[in-house]
Amino acid sequence: MSGMCLVSAGKALPNSKITNDDMSKIVETSDEWISTRTGIFTRYFCKQEQQSWQLAVDAAKQAIEKAGISTEEIGICITATMSPPFATPSISCIVQKELHLLQDILAFDLNAACSGFVYALETANALLAANQKPYALVIGCEALSKITDFTNRNTCVLFGDGAAAVVVQRSEYPFVSMHGTKGDVTALVCGGYGAEKQCLEMDGKAVFRFAVETIPRCIESVLTKSALSLDDIDYIVCHQANRRIIDYVVRQMKAPIEKFYMNLQNYGNTSAASIPLALADMQQQGLLHPKAKIICVGFGGGLTWGATLIEWNKKE
Ligand code: UT7
Repeated sequence: MSGMCLVSAGKALPNSKITNDDMSKIVETSDEWISTRTGIFTRYFCKQEQQSWQLAVDAAKQAIEKAGISTEEIGICITATMSPPFATPSISCIVQKELHLLQDILAFDLNAACSGFVYALETANALLAANQKPYALVIGCEALSKITDFTNRNTCVLFGDGAAAVVVQRSEYPFVSMHGTKGDVTALVCGGYGAEKQCLEMDGKAVFRFAVETIPRCIESVLTKSALSLDDIDYIVCHQANRRIIDYVVRQMKAPIEKFYMNLQNYGNTSAASIPLALADMQQQGLLHPKAKIICVGFGGGLTWGATLIEWNKKE
């Protein structure tokens, strides 16, 4: 068995819901500008005392409960994040402790910016093939409000915080992926520990151009690799950055918009958490039938990209 399928998804959001009107009290902006330029209406921010790792723990707990598996069946825990609370311990190590996962598991965080969740799925697939346990926990967790410059209207209205997790299972179902990076060090940057500037800076137009060129290429690549057509796919879940990006791709590919799941209107851009947040909402809304074929597409800082074709399946 060399494939992998999705079994369940869970999510957790901070308590503080922020509307576009709330943002207009912080910077010179408006609900009209934000909603028409991005499709975003609300986002959630962690308050000062709220830690993002707690969201990861809550989301992972929910995903495990929905999967109906024992924590002893989990051999791998990977968290994709570009805004970790600590350089060490990793969020995955905290999840291991809080949820009493086995000690002899692979637990680590991974940073590929907004492509992080897709990179983490591909990593889990490779590692599960050689693991004695059948399940892996793959989490996306961000507290982007902690690395946002709230004096810069070009960026601060875009991002949100949140976490979501999926349980994946080694199986015979096909898992197809592609990935890459341009090695770009200017379009989307944020200083790390000890850096003078620790806020996200983005050349929005450059990232927009990169996104609309990259998403169709990613989708076509996994379709070719899996010998499937768009008609065979139930849902495409792109990184939720901007509704205009997805609308542009839909027009370019002449694809039905209903296939492109969107929830960015509720959460803003949550980087590595956005794709699993979409999967969790899709499960909650009853959209995912057994054997549903889903293409996930991530793109972002680096400039990185990645796509996976994965099936939704109940526990076997
Ligand atoms: O997760 C990583 C991936 N990130 C992305 O995918 C982001 C990709 N980029 C984008 O989504 C868009 O480029 C943005 C939403 C970031 C910006 O949209 P845009 O249509 O490219 O706007 P712009 O940067 O060209 O700005 C247009 C105008 C400017 O004013 P002038 O120069 O025309 O007078 C900006 O100063 O809008 C102004 N502006 C704002 N006005 C009100 C920029 N931000 C705001 C704001 N409120 N928040």
